[in-house]
Amino acid sequence: MTKKLIAKPLIKKIYADLKNEISTNAWNPHLVIILIGEDPAAKYYVENLQKKGMKKGFKVSTKLFDPAISQEQLLNEIEVLNTDSNVHGIMLQKPLPKHLDESEIVMAINPDKDVDGFHPLNMGNLVLDRDGFVPCTPNAVLQILDFYEIETEGKHIVIIGRSDIVGKPLANLLLRKNKTGNATVTVCHSRTKDLPKHTKEADIVIAAIGKAEFVKADMLKESAIVIDVGVNQVEDPEKGYKYVGDVEFEASFEKVKAITPVPGGVGSVTTAMLLSNVLKAFKKCVSS
Ligand SMILES: NC(=O)c1ccc[n+]([C@@H]2O[C@H](COP(=O)([O-])OP(=O)(O)OC[C@H]3O[C@@H](n4cnc5c(N)ncnc54)[C@H](OP(=O)(O)O)[C@@H]3O)[C@@H](O)[C@H]2O)c1
Repeated sequence: MTKKLIAKPLIKKIYADLKNEISTNAWNPHLVIILIGEDPAAKYYVENLQKKGMKKGFKVSTKLFDPAISQEQLLNEIEVLNTDSNVHGIMLQKPLPKHLDESEIVMAINPDKDVDGFHPLNMGNLVLDRDGFVPCTPNAVLQILDFYEIETEGKHIVIIGRSDIVGKPLANLLLRKNKTGNATVTVCHSRTKDLPKHTKEADIVIAAIGKAEFVKADMLKESAIVIDVGVNQVEDPEKGYKYVGDVEFEASFEKVKAITPVPGGVGSVTTAMLLSNVLKAFKKCVSS
């Protein structure tokens, strides 16, 4: 097995398949991104997604709203998108202004257009192993495990982080009775006692904490496979800033069996999973 589990060959394949399917069928899947305010990182991500999507044959539009938009106005806008048959996927870009109730907004998105996979109906389907939209980052982790033929059956997987968008759905996916499931899963969080004790026992460690290089090499066993979900901006003396993961990369790379890099790992596959979900939403729409 290659030691650095890079996303490039995997996303190349995913994007080629998406582009081919769309052009062969002359389809026009349409994603609408809801962007509220001018957060620079969010804007950068959205512009990038727009470019990437359009190159593969997707229509990607952005609905930009003033940060002062009220809950009611936003819910009305979502209802318009829900009923527009030319819109197949709706993505809510974060962060949201503090006065908005995120959970009510997520609930308002038509579950058949919920390409983030955060609607409770899709989350419920995920837990019950039924068809639905799987959140993009947990799905990206599964795709990496599958692509690099990392066996999960009977393995002890320790996830650090229990968020609704990463840790919780991922734990459920790894419990599924399928090729990327059948694992014994431990979910750790900020109240876990003696975290290194758990990580040292893990065959696979998945870090989704949001703290730069929090997981040190001495917390991992030599045969471990490490999937780093974290994306943290830190100062860089030359470039001003750079992105690092939740795992101390250099020392861990020397020690463990395989590890995903940041950038160039889970994050890149996450974008590909979002566009896959948009195509799935499109197919759902045309078949109904
Ligand atoms: N690559 C991608 O596509 C992608 C997508 C989404 C997120 N991310 C990145 O993934 C990371 C996690 O994101 P998130 O949204 O899941 O974050 P989050 O909602 O802030 O959750 C962080 C989790 O880490 C746990 N945690 C915090 N400090 C800890 C500690 N000292 N020991 C053990 N656990 C600790 C928290 O525990 P408590 O629950 O007890 O507070 C929480 O469950 C971030 O770096 C984010 O940028 C990447």
